[in-house]
Amino acid sequence: MTSIAGLPRVEHLPYDIARIRRDFPILKREVASGAQLVYLDNAATSQRPVQVLAEITRFYRDHNANIHRGVHTLSVEATELYEQARAKVARFIGASDPREIIFTRNTTEAINLVAHSWARKFLKAGDEVVVSEIEHHSNIVPWQMLRDERGIVLKYIPMLPDGTLDLDAVQSIITERTRLVAITAMSNALGTIVPLDVIVARAKAVGALVLVDGAQSVPHMPVDVQALDVDFLAFSGHKMLAPFGIGVLWGRMALLESMDPFMGGGDMILTVSMEQSTWADVPAKFEAGTPNVGDAVALGAAVDYLSALGMDEVRRHEREITDYALRRLADVPGVSIFGVPDAEHRGGVVSFELEGVHPHDIGQVLDTKGVAIRTGHHCAQPVMLALNVPATARASFYIYNTTAEVDALASGLEEVGRFFGVRK
Ligand SMILES: Cc1ncc(COP(=O)(O)O)c(C=O)c1O
Repeated sequence: MTSIAGLPRVEHLPYDIARIRRDFPILKREVASGAQLVYLDNAATSQRPVQVLAEITRFYRDHNANIHRGVHTLSVEATELYEQARAKVARFIGASDPREIIFTRNTTEAINLVAHSWARKFLKAGDEVVVSEIEHHSNIVPWQMLRDERGIVLKYIPMLPDGTLDLDAVQSIITERTRLVAITAMSNALGTIVPLDVIVARAKAVGALVLVDGAQSVPHMPVDVQALDVDFLAFSGHKMLAPFGIGVLWGRMALLESMDPFMGGGDMILTVSMEQSTWADVPAKFEAGTPNVGDAVALGAAVDYLSALGMDEVRRHEREITDYALRRLADVPGVSIFGVPDAEHRGGVVSFELEGVHPHDIGQVLDTKGVAIRTGHHCAQPVMLALNVPATARASFYIYNTTAEVDALASGLEEVGRFFGVRK
């Protein structure tokens, strides 16, 4: 198995937006109306650079084989590439041991793995799981299912009107009965960056574990699991330049060792007789069946790409774009922006409404201008309920977005406003 120490260091590159954009050929395409694409739907999924696309092709062209069981050259190479990708991901998030990285399909599967393999084993009726009101459905529904099945108590840290969490309530909501706090690092609907330190401190004080939904933080800012002092971290490759269908659960080794398998089948066993089976060691115990080898290897290439940029630089760039977008959109007649007012406390997400215009109509008219945004509830219906809106329009940014693209969004919105007769 590849150790983190055995990996070559990634050289940092200067943040050159023109060069970065050249790595994403899709950004040059036109949409159906003939307008140039302005891709502002990065919280849903990112685009992929040529380096990642090339890695997928290279894997299938030169190294494709099933892993772990083979002794032939291709199988040994494929296994080595898969394990190297695991080690790259481990280093990227500050994990000390690559075996703490479990490859899953996505964040959703990673959270469900914890609900299934840890919570179903260790929680009993009356135990409390605390989430927040700004969670994505994938960090609510698995716990509701567990509540209905096991009688655990599910509690929510409320959202304040500005989209931040009510930190005063944290003390009373996380109690001696809390066994797990499952919390997002950043809201996909509003962009709120959650002060994890406050939540982790309270969770530790009562002896609860902390699972962080890193779907919106790992792609966009430096994340170090040791510094965060959490127990589980879940994230998706497709939001960080990698293919669909590959995600990660990081967990502390002792916890992973104590947990039951997630699914049963090939690769996750040590022995099988007709009566019973014993389990393979972590991480194989949680990776039943043939894994998504090619996309894991491509995730390794995505991690290389982001590491070369430097995650501090990624965050700095997104903060600048977001700051610009907050100021630029505030000038558009009829636009109201939801969430924290400054880019310091939010990631690259701007959710807004345009007075009197349904978000869906905004999205459709913007599409004719080439501007791709997302409209709807963003899989965060409790946030929509708290804001008392059925849906919002959401622009979300990534490493390749420019202020000129924010201008295209703003002038597109001005045109939507004129079209629908929004008053100045
Ligand atoms: C904060 C957050 N959590 C979880 C998810 C679910 O990710 P996936 O659909 O890749 O499992 C998302 C996706 O938008 C998200 O933004």
